[in-house]
Amino acid sequence: MQLITSKVLFQTQLATNIFHLIVAKNEEQILPGQFYMLKAWEDDLPLMRPISVYNVDNDKLHFLYKVVGKGTDKLSKLEPKADIELLGPLGNGFPCHEFSGNIALVGGGIGIPPLFETAKQLKKNGCKVDIYLGYKDELFAIEAFAEVCEKMFIATENGKEGYKGFVTNIFNPQNYNAIFTCGPELMMMKVKEFCDSQQVPVWLSMESRMACGIGACLVCACKTKEGMKRCCKDGPVFSGAIL
Ligand SMILES: Cc1cc2nc3c(=O)[nH]c(=O)nc-3n(C[C@H](O)[C@H](O)[C@H](O)COP(=O)(O)OP(=O)(O)OC[C@H]3O[C@@H](n4cnc5c(N)ncnc54)[C@H](O)[C@@H]3O)c2cc1C
Ligand code: FES
Repeated sequence: MQLITSKVLFQTQLATNIFHLIVAKNEEQILPGQFYMLKAWEDDLPLMRPISVYNVDNDKLHFLYKVVGKGTDKLSKLEPKADIELLGPLGNGFPCHEFSGNIALVGGGIGIPPLFETAKQLKKNGCKVDIYLGYKDELFAIEAFAEVCEKMFIATENGKEGYKGFVTNIFNPQNYNAIFTCGPELMMMKVKEFCDSQQVPVWLSMESRMACGIGACLVCACKTKEGMKRCCKDGPVFSGAIL
């Protein structure tokens, strides 16, 4: 883990309030599901903001994020060559090397981005990866997933594309060796419920408000069957068995 000042290489808007940011990468090895703390503003906003790694591509690091407040709004205004502070990679990531065979990834909304680097790694390991994606209305990143996944299942809440309704209505863990999920907590808990009932291992990437991102402040503490855990340091990926 390093704190570096990097450069913005490229930024584009993919959908309403959804941006794809590409920055120059350091030498560190990155695991799928890890995240960085980002900062590209002066001290009027003291805290860095956690954003998951979407894609690692040679010397480039890609992030996909949604503008929801001041920090992400400032990120969205960055132009190529702008400085950006990066602290990371942080967290544990998905256990891609522990599983083989058929793996399903279930993503919802802005929980979708970390599943792309995860799908790439699983495919590299020889797994067959199916992706289940749930959106409110506008799709993003589906072309990228189509390149690495065997089968793609899409749901939108308003029925604009794919199945009309929640992605959990079209997901069944049967026939998969493991499930990795990231998205709204309600969605992930539903996925876990299905997996538990069919005894399929499931790993969830939990979101929480963060301050330091490195395990020092306890702002991100979350309750598990094994006691309180720090989402940033012990997670963000947790086995369904302890949640
Ligand atoms: C490990 C991790 C990985 C993440 N990866 C991504 C990603 O890849 N792409 C992406 O778009 N976002 C991601 N997020 C969420 C992102 O960090 C927040 O949206 C961002 O920090 C908001 O900053 P802001 O200054 O724009 O908004 P703020 O002004 O801080 O907040 C605006 C609104 O967003 C809510 N909010 C802020 N942070 C969170 C959070 N962590 N969880 C739930 N609600 C929050 C606030 O309650 C408030 O309502 C991730 C969060 C974590 C913890
Ligand atoms: S954000 Fe500080 S301990 Fe997790």
